[in-house]
Amino acid sequence: VTVEPFDIVVFGATGDLAHRKLLPALFERDVAGQVPDDARIIGVSRRPMPREAFQSFAREAVGLSDGVEDVDQSRLAAFLNRLDYVAVDALSDEGWANLARLLGAGGDRVRVFYLAVGPDLFDPICSRIGAFGLVTERTRVVVEKPVGKDLASALEVNAAVGKVFREEAVFRIDHYLGKETVQNLMALRFANALFEPVWNNAHIDHVQITVAESIGTAGRAGYYDTAGALRDMVQNHILQLLCLVAMEPPVSLEADAVRDEKLKVLKALEPINEANAAQVTVRGQYRAGASAGGAVPGYLEELGSGESSTETFVALKAEIGNWRWSGVPFYLRTGKRLASRVSEIVVAFRPIPHSVFDGHAGPIAPNRLVIRLQPDEGVKLWLMIKDPGPGGMRLQHVPLDMSFASVFGARNPDAYERLIMDVVRGNQTLFMRRDEVEAAWRWIDPILEAWRASREPPKPYTSGTWGPSAAIALIERDGRTWTDDT
Ligand code: BG6
Repeated sequence: VTVEPFDIVVFGATGDLAHRKLLPALFERDVAGQVPDDARIIGVSRRPMPREAFQSFAREAVGLSDGVEDVDQSRLAAFLNRLDYVAVDALSDEGWANLARLLGAGGDRVRVFYLAVGPDLFDPICSRIGAFGLVTERTRVVVEKPVGKDLASALEVNAAVGKVFREEAVFRIDHYLGKETVQNLMALRFANALFEPVWNNAHIDHVQITVAESIGTAGRAGYYDTAGALRDMVQNHILQLLCLVAMEPPVSLEADAVRDEKLKVLKALEPINEANAAQVTVRGQYRAGASAGGAVPGYLEELGSGESSTETFVALKAEIGNWRWSGVPFYLRTGKRLASRVSEIVVAFRPIPHSVFDGHAGPIAPNRLVIRLQPDEGVKLWLMIKDPGPGGMRLQHVPLDMSFASVFGARNPDAYERLIMDVVRGNQTLFMRRDEVEAAWRWIDPILEAWRASREPPKPYTSGTWGPSAAIALIERDGRTWTDDT
Protein backbone atom coordinates (compact mmCIF):
# COMPACT_ATOMS: atom_id res chain seq x y z
CA VAL A 1 0.00 0.00 0.00
CA THR A 2 1.38 3.38 -0.95
CA VAL A 3 2.07 5.70 1.98
CA GLU A 4 1.19 9.39 1.86
CA PRO A 5 3.58 11.80 0.12
CA PHE A 6 6.67 12.62 2.17
CA ASP A 7 10.03 14.31 2.16
CA ILE A 8 12.83 12.57 4.01
CA VAL A 9 15.88 14.63 4.89
CA VAL A 10 18.86 12.45 5.70
CA PHE A 11 21.54 14.16 7.79
CA GLY A 12 24.80 12.26 7.34
CA ALA A 13 23.69 11.37 3.81
CA THR A 14 27.15 10.39 2.62
CA GLY A 15 27.90 8.29 5.68
CA ASP A 16 28.06 4.57 6.29
CA LEU A 17 24.48 4.10 7.53
CA ALA A 18 22.95 5.92 4.57
CA HIS A 19 25.07 3.86 2.23
CA ARG A 20 24.55 0.46 3.79
CA LYS A 21 20.99 0.73 5.06
CA LEU A 22 18.91 3.86 4.43
CA LEU A 23 19.26 4.35 0.69
CA PRO A 24 18.91 0.62 -0.09
CA ALA A 25 15.84 0.40 2.17
CA LEU A 26 14.16 3.39 0.51
CA PHE A 27 14.95 1.93 -2.88
CA GLU A 28 13.45 -1.45 -1.97
CA ARG A 29 10.24 0.22 -0.78
CA ASP A 30 10.16 2.25 -3.96
CA VAL A 31 10.50 -0.88 -6.10
CA ALA A 32 7.74 -2.48 -4.02
CA GLY A 33 5.47 0.41 -5.03
CA GLN A 34 5.09 1.82 -1.54
CA VAL A 35 6.65 5.20 -2.17
CA PRO A 36 4.35 7.76 -3.83
CA ASP A 37 5.50 9.38 -7.04
CA ASP A 38 6.24 12.79 -5.63
CA ALA A 39 8.10 11.67 -2.48
CA ARG A 40 11.54 13.22 -2.17
CA ILE A 41 14.78 12.11 -0.54
CA ILE A 42 17.00 15.00 0.41
CA GLY A 43 20.58 14.19 1.31
CA VAL A 44 22.31 16.58 3.66
CA SER A 45 25.87 16.81 4.84
CA ARG A 46 28.47 19.48 5.27
CA ARG A 47 30.46 19.01 2.10
CA PRO A 48 29.13 20.82 -0.98
CA MET A 49 28.59 18.47 -3.89
CA PRO A 50 26.45 18.44 -7.01
CA ARG A 51 23.17 16.55 -6.98
CA GLU A 52 24.62 14.16 -9.58
CA ALA A 53 27.42 13.15 -7.22
CA PHE A 54 24.87 12.23 -4.54
CA GLN A 55 22.89 10.31 -7.12
CA SER A 56 25.90 8.23 -8.07
CA PHE A 57 26.62 7.61 -4.38
CA ALA A 58 23.05 6.33 -4.08
CA ARG A 59 23.30 4.28 -7.26
CA GLU A 60 26.30 2.50 -5.82
CA ALA A 61 24.53 2.06 -2.47
CA VAL A 62 21.47 0.36 -3.92
CA GLY A 63 23.73 -1.95 -5.87
CA LEU A 64 24.56 -3.41 -2.46
CA SER A 65 20.96 -4.15 -1.63
CA ASP A 66 19.83 -7.79 -1.55
CA GLY A 67 18.24 -9.20 -4.64
CA VAL A 68 18.59 -6.12 -6.81
CA GLU A 69 21.40 -7.28 -9.08
CA ASP A 70 18.94 -7.23 -11.91
CA VAL A 71 17.68 -3.78 -11.06
CA ASP A 72 15.18 -2.55 -13.55
CA GLN A 73 16.96 0.48 -15.02
CA SER A 74 13.84 2.59 -15.34
CA ARG A 75 13.00 1.91 -11.69
CA LEU A 76 16.51 2.92 -10.70
CA ALA A 77 16.28 6.10 -12.78
CA ALA A 78 12.95 6.98 -11.16
CA PHE A 79 14.44 6.42 -7.71
CA LEU A 80 17.51 8.54 -8.43
CA ASN A 81 15.23 11.24 -9.71
CA ARG A 82 13.71 11.63 -6.23
CA LEU A 83 17.10 12.51 -4.82
CA ASP A 84 18.29 15.96 -4.01
CA TYR A 85 21.26 17.20 -2.08
CA VAL A 86 21.91 20.27 0.07
CA ALA A 87 25.14 21.16 1.86
CA VAL A 88 24.26 22.21 5.39
CA ASP A 89 26.56 22.87 8.32
CA ALA A 90 25.18 21.42 11.55
CA LEU A 91 27.32 23.80 13.59
CA SER A 92 26.55 27.09 11.87
CA ASP A 93 23.69 28.66 9.92
CA GLU A 94 25.32 27.89 6.62
CA GLY A 95 23.07 26.15 4.11
CA TRP A 96 19.94 26.11 6.27
CA ALA A 97 18.07 28.68 4.25
CA ASN A 98 18.58 26.52 1.14
CA LEU A 99 17.20 23.51 2.94
CA ALA A 100 14.22 25.56 4.13
CA ARG A 101 13.51 26.74 0.59
CA LEU A 102 13.70 23.25 -0.84
CA LEU A 103 11.37 21.86 1.83
CA GLY A 104 8.96 24.76 1.41
CA ALA A 105 8.59 23.90 -2.27
CA GLY A 106 7.17 20.51 -1.27
CA GLY A 107 4.14 22.08 0.39
CA ASP A 108 2.39 20.54 3.38
CA ARG A 109 3.29 16.88 3.57
CA VAL A 110 4.91 14.41 5.95
CA ARG A 111 8.42 15.56 6.68
CA VAL A 112 11.04 13.25 8.19
CA PHE A 113 14.41 14.38 9.51
CA TYR A 114 16.67 11.35 9.80
CA LEU A 115 19.66 12.03 12.06
CA ALA A 116 22.23 9.49 10.81
CA VAL A 117 25.00 11.41 12.57
CA GLY A 118 26.94 11.19 15.84
CA PRO A 119 24.99 12.05 19.01
CA ASP A 120 27.01 15.22 19.57
CA LEU A 121 25.26 16.69 16.52
CA PHE A 122 21.68 15.90 17.65
CA ASP A 123 21.41 19.07 19.72
CA PRO A 124 22.84 21.56 17.17
CA ILE A 125 20.84 20.03 14.32
CA CYS A 126 17.55 19.94 16.23
CA SER A 127 17.90 23.49 17.46
CA ARG A 128 18.50 24.76 13.92
CA ILE A 129 15.59 22.72 12.58
CA GLY A 130 13.54 24.60 15.18
CA ALA A 131 15.12 28.02 14.63
CA PHE A 132 14.61 27.84 10.86
CA GLY A 133 10.95 27.01 11.37
CA LEU A 134 11.18 23.61 9.69
CA VAL A 135 8.90 21.79 12.13
CA THR A 136 5.39 21.43 10.78
CA GLU A 137 2.38 19.56 12.20
CA ARG A 138 3.47 16.44 10.35
CA THR A 139 7.21 16.57 10.94
CA ARG A 140 9.02 13.64 12.53
CA VAL A 141 12.59 13.10 13.62
CA VAL A 142 14.47 9.81 13.64
CA VAL A 143 17.21 9.48 16.21
CA GLU A 144 19.82 6.77 15.70
CA LYS A 145 21.62 5.04 18.51
CA PRO A 146 23.61 5.59 20.56
CA VAL A 147 21.22 7.78 22.51
CA GLY A 148 23.90 8.83 24.96
CA LYS A 149 26.68 6.85 26.54
CA ASP A 150 25.16 6.78 30.01
CA LEU A 151 22.06 8.04 31.76
CA ALA A 152 23.28 11.62 32.14
CA SER A 153 24.14 12.03 28.46
CA ALA A 154 20.93 10.27 27.37
CA LEU A 155 18.93 12.75 29.45
CA GLU A 156 20.76 15.58 27.70
CA VAL A 157 20.13 14.17 24.23
CA ASN A 158 16.46 13.56 24.99
CA ALA A 159 16.08 17.04 26.44
CA ALA A 160 17.73 18.65 23.40
CA VAL A 161 15.50 16.75 20.97
CA GLY A 162 12.48 17.36 23.22
CA LYS A 163 12.95 21.14 23.07
CA VAL A 164 12.08 21.08 19.39
CA PHE A 165 9.92 17.97 18.89
CA ARG A 166 6.93 16.58 20.76
CA GLU A 167 7.47 13.00 21.97
CA GLU A 168 4.88 11.80 19.40
CA ALA A 169 7.20 13.12 16.68
CA VAL A 170 10.37 11.46 17.98
CA PHE A 171 11.32 8.06 16.57
CA ARG A 172 14.26 6.50 18.45
CA ILE A 173 15.26 3.65 16.25
CA ASP A 174 16.42 0.25 17.43
CA HIS A 175 16.71 -1.71 14.23
CA TYR A 176 16.34 -5.04 16.06
CA LEU A 177 12.66 -4.19 16.54
CA GLY A 178 12.26 -4.07 12.77
CA LYS A 179 13.62 -7.59 12.25
CA GLU A 180 10.95 -9.99 11.05
CA THR A 181 11.55 -12.59 13.72
CA VAL A 182 11.46 -10.03 16.48
CA GLN A 183 8.00 -8.95 15.43
CA ASN A 184 7.16 -12.61 15.20
CA LEU A 185 7.88 -12.92 18.87
CA MET A 186 4.78 -10.82 19.47
CA ALA A 187 2.77 -12.89 16.99
CA LEU A 188 3.93 -16.09 18.64
CA ARG A 189 3.10 -14.93 22.14
CA PHE A 190 -0.14 -13.09 21.52
CA ALA A 191 -1.71 -14.73 18.49
CA ASN A 192 -1.51 -18.24 19.96
CA ALA A 193 -3.30 -19.49 23.03
CA LEU A 194 -0.69 -22.17 23.60
CA PHE A 195 2.19 -20.24 25.09
CA GLU A 196 0.81 -17.58 27.38
CA PRO A 197 -0.48 -19.97 30.11
CA VAL A 198 3.01 -21.49 30.49
CA TRP A 199 4.93 -18.25 30.01
CA ASN A 200 6.02 -17.81 33.62
CA ASN A 201 8.23 -19.08 36.41
CA ALA A 202 6.02 -22.09 37.09
CA HIS A 203 6.92 -23.54 33.71
CA ILE A 204 9.98 -21.75 32.38
CA ASP A 205 13.37 -22.66 33.82
CA HIS A 206 15.41 -19.91 32.22
CA VAL A 207 15.82 -17.81 29.07
CA GLN A 208 18.95 -17.31 26.95
CA ILE A 209 19.49 -14.48 24.53
CA THR A 210 22.54 -14.69 22.30
CA VAL A 211 23.55 -12.11 19.71
CA ALA A 212 26.83 -13.41 18.34
CA GLU A 213 28.74 -11.79 15.51
CA SER A 214 31.67 -13.21 13.61
CA ILE A 215 32.88 -9.81 12.40
CA GLY A 216 35.23 -7.61 14.42
CA THR A 217 34.77 -3.89 14.83
CA ALA A 218 34.53 -3.58 11.05
CA GLY A 219 36.36 -0.30 10.55
CA ARG A 220 34.55 1.35 13.45
CA ALA A 221 37.19 0.71 16.11
CA GLY A 222 37.32 4.41 16.98
CA TYR A 223 33.63 4.61 17.95
CA TYR A 224 33.56 1.10 19.34
CA ASP A 225 36.40 1.74 21.74
CA THR A 226 34.37 4.47 23.42
CA ALA A 227 31.35 2.18 23.69
CA GLY A 228 32.02 -1.55 24.17
CA ALA A 229 29.57 -4.43 23.92
CA LEU A 230 27.43 -3.47 26.91
CA ARG A 231 26.60 -0.03 25.49
CA ASP A 232 26.64 -1.04 21.84
CA MET A 233 24.38 -4.11 22.05
CA VAL A 234 22.98 -4.80 25.53
CA GLN A 235 21.62 -1.36 26.45
CA ASN A 236 19.45 -1.36 23.33
CA HIS A 237 19.04 -4.47 21.18
CA ILE A 238 19.33 -7.17 23.82
CA LEU A 239 17.25 -5.38 26.44
CA GLN A 240 14.58 -4.77 23.82
CA LEU A 241 14.50 -8.49 23.04
CA LEU A 242 14.33 -9.26 26.74
CA CYS A 243 11.39 -6.85 27.09
CA LEU A 244 9.45 -8.50 24.28
CA VAL A 245 9.96 -11.92 25.85
CA ALA A 246 9.12 -10.80 29.36
CA MET A 247 6.45 -8.10 29.05
CA GLU A 248 2.84 -8.60 30.07
CA PRO A 249 0.38 -8.83 27.18
CA PRO A 250 -0.33 -5.25 26.10
CA VAL A 251 -3.99 -4.32 25.59
CA SER A 252 -3.28 -3.61 21.93
CA LEU A 253 -0.38 -3.04 19.58
CA GLU A 254 -0.87 0.68 19.94
CA ALA A 255 2.52 2.30 20.57
CA ASP A 256 2.07 3.36 24.16
CA ALA A 257 0.32 0.14 25.14
CA VAL A 258 3.40 -1.84 24.09
CA ARG A 259 5.90 0.66 25.40
CA ASP A 260 4.22 0.88 28.81
CA GLU A 261 4.66 -2.87 29.21
CA LYS A 262 8.29 -2.83 28.10
CA LEU A 263 9.04 -0.02 30.52
CA LYS A 264 7.66 -2.07 33.42
CA VAL A 265 10.09 -4.88 32.59
CA LEU A 266 13.05 -2.50 32.48
CA LYS A 267 12.04 -1.09 35.84
CA ALA A 268 11.75 -4.58 37.32
CA LEU A 269 15.28 -5.64 36.37
CA GLU A 270 17.20 -6.52 39.52
CA PRO A 271 20.17 -4.19 39.93
CA ILE A 272 23.67 -5.33 39.04
CA ASN A 273 26.27 -3.24 40.82
CA GLU A 274 29.50 -3.47 42.78
CA ALA A 275 27.92 -5.94 45.19
CA ASN A 276 27.24 -8.64 42.59
CA ALA A 277 28.82 -7.66 39.25
CA ALA A 278 31.74 -10.06 39.68
CA GLN A 279 29.35 -13.00 40.10
CA VAL A 280 26.88 -12.22 37.34
CA THR A 281 28.84 -10.47 34.58
CA VAL A 282 31.75 -11.47 32.34
CA ARG A 283 33.63 -9.13 30.05
CA GLY A 284 35.91 -10.28 27.28
CA GLN A 285 38.14 -8.87 24.55
CA TYR A 286 39.20 -10.78 21.45
CA ARG A 287 42.74 -11.71 20.64
CA ALA A 288 44.10 -12.78 17.26
CA GLY A 289 42.69 -16.05 15.95
CA ALA A 290 40.86 -17.48 12.98
CA SER A 291 37.53 -16.38 11.65
CA ALA A 292 35.73 -17.33 8.44
CA GLY A 293 38.66 -19.55 7.51
CA GLY A 294 41.35 -16.87 7.75
CA ALA A 295 43.68 -15.45 10.35
CA VAL A 296 42.43 -12.26 11.99
CA PRO A 297 44.19 -9.72 14.22
CA GLY A 298 43.21 -9.05 17.82
CA TYR A 299 41.19 -6.08 19.01
CA LEU A 300 44.21 -4.11 20.23
CA GLU A 301 46.03 -4.58 16.92
CA GLU A 302 42.98 -3.35 15.06
CA LEU A 303 42.70 -0.39 17.33
CA GLY A 304 46.38 0.34 16.81
CA SER A 305 46.92 0.80 20.49
CA GLY A 306 48.54 -1.46 23.03
CA GLU A 307 45.98 -0.69 25.65
CA SER A 308 42.23 -0.66 25.97
CA SER A 309 39.90 -2.10 28.53
CA THR A 310 36.88 -1.95 26.22
CA GLU A 311 34.91 -5.19 26.17
CA THR A 312 34.07 -6.82 22.84
CA PHE A 313 32.12 -9.55 24.61
CA VAL A 314 29.76 -9.54 27.52
CA ALA A 315 27.76 -12.27 29.22
CA LEU A 316 25.46 -11.62 32.11
CA LYS A 317 22.78 -13.11 34.24
CA ALA A 318 19.82 -10.79 34.57
CA GLU A 319 16.81 -11.29 36.81
CA ILE A 320 13.41 -9.70 36.70
CA GLY A 321 11.85 -9.01 40.07
CA ASN A 322 8.14 -9.51 39.48
CA TRP A 323 5.56 -12.26 40.01
CA ARG A 324 5.83 -13.73 36.54
CA TRP A 325 9.62 -14.00 36.38
CA SER A 326 10.99 -14.19 39.89
CA GLY A 327 13.58 -16.97 39.99
CA VAL A 328 13.93 -17.27 36.20
CA PRO A 329 17.39 -16.14 35.10
CA PHE A 330 17.81 -14.44 31.73
CA TYR A 331 21.32 -15.26 30.49
CA LEU A 332 22.43 -12.68 27.95
CA ARG A 333 25.55 -12.76 25.81
CA THR A 334 26.89 -10.88 22.84
CA GLY A 335 30.26 -10.45 21.27
CA LYS A 336 32.34 -9.78 18.20
CA ARG A 337 34.57 -12.32 16.46
CA LEU A 338 32.72 -15.26 17.92
CA ALA A 339 32.52 -18.73 16.39
CA SER A 340 29.59 -17.88 14.14
CA ARG A 341 27.00 -15.22 13.41
CA VAL A 342 23.90 -16.32 15.20
CA SER A 343 21.22 -14.48 17.11
CA GLU A 344 18.58 -16.36 18.98
CA ILE A 345 16.31 -16.44 21.95
CA VAL A 346 15.97 -19.73 23.79
CA VAL A 347 13.08 -20.24 26.18
CA ALA A 348 13.98 -23.30 28.23
CA PHE A 349 11.04 -24.98 29.97
CA ARG A 350 11.22 -26.90 33.21
CA PRO A 351 11.80 -30.67 33.18
CA ILE A 352 8.80 -33.00 33.46
CA PRO A 353 7.93 -33.68 37.11
CA HIS A 354 8.01 -37.49 36.83
CA SER A 355 9.09 -39.94 34.14
CA VAL A 356 6.93 -42.92 33.24
CA PHE A 357 9.54 -44.18 30.78
CA ASP A 358 11.37 -46.64 32.98
CA GLY A 359 13.02 -48.51 30.14
CA HIS A 360 14.30 -45.35 28.49
CA ALA A 361 18.01 -45.03 29.11
CA GLY A 362 18.65 -41.42 28.19
CA PRO A 363 17.50 -38.28 29.95
CA ILE A 364 14.18 -36.69 29.08
CA ALA A 365 15.30 -33.34 27.80
CA PRO A 366 13.09 -30.40 28.74
CA ASN A 367 11.15 -28.59 26.01
CA ARG A 368 12.75 -25.60 24.42
CA LEU A 369 11.35 -22.89 22.23
CA VAL A 370 14.03 -21.33 20.04
CA ILE A 371 13.42 -18.15 18.12
CA ARG A 372 16.16 -17.68 15.57
CA LEU A 373 16.63 -14.05 14.54
CA GLN A 374 19.43 -14.59 12.07
CA PRO A 375 20.62 -16.25 9.95
CA ASP A 376 18.03 -18.88 8.88
CA GLU A 377 15.14 -17.07 10.56
CA GLY A 378 12.64 -19.39 12.12
CA VAL A 379 11.09 -20.94 15.17
CA LYS A 380 11.82 -24.38 16.60
CA LEU A 381 9.97 -26.11 19.37
CA TRP A 382 12.02 -28.98 20.80
CA LEU A 383 9.95 -31.95 21.92
CA MET A 384 10.57 -35.51 23.10
CA ILE A 385 9.32 -37.94 20.44
CA LYS A 386 9.38 -41.72 20.20
CA ASP A 387 12.05 -43.17 17.99
CA PRO A 388 10.23 -44.97 15.16
CA GLY A 389 10.49 -48.77 15.11
CA PRO A 390 9.79 -51.73 17.33
CA GLY A 391 12.85 -51.27 19.54
CA GLY A 392 10.85 -50.27 22.60
CA MET A 393 10.11 -46.86 23.99
CA ARG A 394 13.24 -45.05 22.94
CA LEU A 395 12.86 -41.29 23.01
CA GLN A 396 14.53 -38.53 21.08
CA HIS A 397 14.68 -34.76 21.39
CA VAL A 398 13.52 -33.42 18.01
CA PRO A 399 12.49 -29.98 16.84
CA LEU A 400 9.17 -29.02 15.38
CA ASP A 401 10.88 -26.84 12.88
CA MET A 402 9.48 -23.82 11.11
CA SER A 403 12.06 -22.22 8.93
CA PHE A 404 10.62 -19.00 7.50
CA ALA A 405 12.45 -19.45 4.21
CA SER A 406 10.86 -22.82 3.56
CA VAL A 407 7.38 -21.81 4.73
CA PHE A 408 7.17 -18.37 3.17
CA GLY A 409 9.93 -18.45 0.59
CA ALA A 410 9.79 -14.69 0.11
CA ARG A 411 12.76 -12.41 0.54
CA ASN A 412 13.21 -11.16 4.06
CA PRO A 413 13.00 -7.36 4.02
CA ASP A 414 15.66 -5.47 5.91
CA ALA A 415 14.58 -4.04 9.26
CA TYR A 416 15.11 -0.49 8.02
CA GLU A 417 12.53 -0.91 5.27
CA ARG A 418 9.78 -1.59 7.74
CA LEU A 419 10.94 1.04 10.21
CA ILE A 420 11.33 3.94 7.78
CA MET A 421 7.83 3.34 6.45
CA ASP A 422 6.54 3.22 10.03
CA VAL A 423 8.03 6.67 10.57
CA VAL A 424 6.23 8.00 7.51
CA ARG A 425 2.99 6.42 8.75
CA GLY A 426 3.57 7.88 12.20
CA ASN A 427 3.49 4.48 13.91
CA GLN A 428 5.73 4.47 17.00
CA THR A 429 5.10 0.91 18.20
CA LEU A 430 8.53 -0.33 17.15
CA PHE A 431 10.41 2.74 18.42
CA MET A 432 11.73 3.45 21.88
CA ARG A 433 10.05 6.01 24.04
CA ARG A 434 12.12 8.49 26.00
CA ASP A 435 11.47 6.87 29.39
CA GLU A 436 12.38 3.42 28.02
CA VAL A 437 15.81 4.55 26.86
CA GLU A 438 16.38 6.23 30.19
CA ALA A 439 15.25 3.19 32.19
CA ALA A 440 17.64 1.01 30.19
CA TRP A 441 20.54 3.32 31.03
CA ARG A 442 19.46 3.41 34.67
CA TRP A 443 20.08 -0.35 34.78
CA ILE A 444 23.28 -0.25 32.69
CA ASP A 445 25.06 2.60 34.51
CA PRO A 446 25.76 0.71 37.78
CA ILE A 447 27.21 -2.20 35.78
CA LEU A 448 29.61 0.18 34.04
CA GLU A 449 30.46 1.75 37.38
CA ALA A 450 31.11 -1.62 38.99
CA TRP A 451 33.46 -2.56 36.16
CA ARG A 452 35.27 0.75 36.42
CA ALA A 453 35.68 0.37 40.16
CA SER A 454 36.97 -3.20 39.94
CA ARG A 455 39.72 -2.15 37.49
CA GLU A 456 39.74 -5.68 36.18
CA PRO A 457 40.71 -5.88 32.52
CA PRO A 458 38.39 -7.79 30.18
CA LYS A 459 39.23 -11.49 29.85
CA PRO A 460 41.01 -12.34 26.61
CA TYR A 461 39.41 -14.81 24.21
CA THR A 462 40.64 -16.19 20.92
CA SER A 463 38.80 -14.93 17.83
CA GLY A 464 36.55 -17.61 16.41
CA THR A 465 35.58 -19.10 19.78
CA TRP A 466 32.51 -18.56 22.00
CA GLY A 467 34.20 -16.01 24.23
CA PRO A 468 36.09 -16.38 27.51
CA SER A 469 35.61 -19.60 29.45
CA ALA A 470 34.26 -17.56 32.35
CA ALA A 471 31.10 -17.03 30.26
CA ILE A 472 30.59 -20.77 30.18
CA ALA A 473 31.27 -21.01 33.88
CA LEU A 474 28.68 -18.25 34.49
CA ILE A 475 25.83 -20.46 33.32
CA GLU A 476 27.31 -23.84 34.31
CA ARG A 477 27.56 -22.74 37.91
CA ASP A 478 23.77 -22.79 37.85
CA GLY A 479 23.71 -26.31 36.38
CA ARG A 480 22.77 -25.09 32.89
CA THR A 481 24.55 -24.74 29.55
CA TRP A 482 24.46 -22.34 26.63
CA THR A 483 22.38 -23.86 23.89
CA ASP A 484 23.77 -23.87 20.43
CA ASP A 485 20.91 -24.83 18.16
CA THR A 486 22.68 -25.00 14.84
C1 BG6 B 1 24.62 -2.19 15.66
C2 BG6 B 1 25.92 -2.22 16.42
O1 BG6 B 1 23.64 -1.51 16.38
O2 BG6 B 1 24.18 -3.52 15.42
C3 BG6 B 1 26.97 -3.01 15.66
O3 BG6 B 1 26.38 -0.89 16.62
C4 BG6 B 1 26.45 -4.38 15.31
O4 BG6 B 1 28.16 -3.11 16.41
C5 BG6 B 1 25.07 -4.30 14.64
O5 BG6 B 1 27.36 -5.01 14.44
C6 BG6 B 1 24.46 -5.68 14.46
O6 BG6 B 1 23.31 -5.58 13.67
P1 BG6 B 1 22.81 -6.79 12.79
O7 BG6 B 1 21.53 -6.32 12.21
O8 BG6 B 1 23.88 -7.06 11.78
O9 BG6 B 1 22.65 -7.95 13.74
